Amino acid sequence: MAGNWKMFKTIAETTQFIVDFLPLVAGVTHADIVIAPPFTAVADAARKTAGSSVAVAAQDLHWEKQGAFTGEVSAAMLAEAGARYVIIGHSERRHIFGETDDQVFQKTRAALGAGLTPIVCVGELLAEREAGATNQVLARQFGGSVGGLTLQEFTAIIIAYEPVWAIGTGKVATPEIAAEAHRFIRSEASAKFGKDTANALRILYGGSVKPDNVRGLMAQPEIDGTLVGGASLDAKSFAAIVNF
Ligand code: 13P
Repeated sequence: MAGNWKMFKTIAETTQFIVDFLPLVAGVTHADIVIAPPFTAVADAARKTAGSSVAVAAQDLHWEKQGAFTGEVSAAMLAEAGARYVIIGHSERRHIFGETDDQVFQKTRAALGAGLTPIVCVGELLAEREAGATNQVLARQFGGSVGGLTLQEFTAIIIAYEPVWAIGTGKVATPEIAAEAHRFIRSEASAKFGKDTANALRILYGGSVKPDNVRGLMAQPEIDGTLVGGASLDAKSFAAIVNF
């Protein structure tokens, strides 16, 4: 169960969240819990969650180890700061910052190289769904973003299905629609990496997940977890989601 904070929370606000959140999820063993604060709060969040059930993710990275890339952060820098996961190819990166499938692929390999667990995002736009192109888009994103990984690399990633029309809109995908997309992604994984690997792949659903709709989503065997935006910013709300 992962919370993507996007460009919200200072270090002080992150600290307050952790103080409030840790007691609410102490002893949770049914799920891995991840929070993804902005870069500036990653190191502090990692220190303050050390030894707890909560791990820290970054929201992006650059694929090169170092270099003249003003404004960018490498996988090794994130790992050193204490991140254990990194979100890659979020729809806001793809659509606002023009990130391509190939960049997502390179970022995924760089993350794996530094021992981070990538959470690779895919998902269709509303117009693509309405045009009946959802599976085509998912196949293209899957193929371009993670299809070129080795089998060993692929077994170490998590995929998040986030239909763009459900992100920040309050329009959650029905559990059936989400499960159908997850099934399709798993079938792509099976075709490329084999049935056992596909069955072991964790696929998270993201898009307007809230405390009152998480149970229905998690009741779908195809849905292994959730990637939560807005509702992960409040400790009680995110704890309610984790403890669905
Ligand atoms: P919301 O939960 O705010 O719709 O955001 C989803 C998301 O983009 C998580 O990465």
